[in-house]
Amino acid sequence: MKVVAFNGSPRKEGNTYHGIKIALDQLEKEGIETEIIQVGNKVIRGCIACNQCVKNKDEKCAIANDPVNDWIQKMKEADGIILGSPVHYSAIAGTMKSFLDRAFYVTSVNDMMLRHKVGAPVVAVRRSGGLPTFNQLNNYINYSEMIMPTSNYWNVIHGTKPGDALEDEEGVQIMRVLGKNMVWLMKLVENGADEVEAPVREQKRFMNFIR
Ligand SMILES: Cc1cc2nc3c(=O)[nH]c(=O)nc-3n(C[C@H](O)[C@H](O)[C@H](O)COP(=O)(O)O)c2cc1C
Repeated sequence: MKVVAFNGSPRKEGNTYHGIKIALDQLEKEGIETEIIQVGNKVIRGCIACNQCVKNKDEKCAIANDPVNDWIQKMKEADGIILGSPVHYSAIAGTMKSFLDRAFYVTSVNDMMLRHKVGAPVVAVRRSGGLPTFNQLNNYINYSEMIMPTSNYWNVIHGTKPGDALEDEEGVQIMRVLGKNMVWLMKLVENGADEVEAPVREQKRFMNFIR
């Protein structure tokens, strides 16, 4: 099994990285392959609402001059996905949001490509804005019919300078417990797949509240 983690920080080994790494260490201990992709230091523009992905249904975003399409395939190949972001102005960091909007729009209009994969958010913050950012990351996971492991608190780790997060003992524990629960859930899903039939996907009802 494989887990791919996306780090929305512009800092390579900042606090988001450490939060992600603590969770991934638990997965690696159990023989799960892991990869961290750094999103936050790339140039990724936001969704231009061209709806070409809806029309083409080729698992691709029409903006083809950046790594988003490669990352969509990385998510498709993975059994588990971690979405990590630092808090910027009480929200997901801008580059990460640009990636997530485009990637999850593509995956949802292509037969819910990420359906029943295991997914979890990880947030790093100095002081305030951890929960709104956690909730925003959860929106992508929930929308995609993914399955989410939890921890013993919300998945937020605190720090300002790179590495500070390692001194947040409670945050470190939250990420460790998240990693352990993620391994367990992934094993349950893998081992249970032959025993318990997954529900048939329903065609999405799409209303705009007018018609
Ligand atoms: C543009 C910007 C906006 C930020 N906004 C907030 C904020 O709203 N609340 C907060 O507590 N920290 C804020 N921070 C601090 C970061 O969340 C904090 O340093 C975090 O550990 C960064 O994670 P990283 O090392 O993975 O980049 C901000 C940092 C930057 C660069």
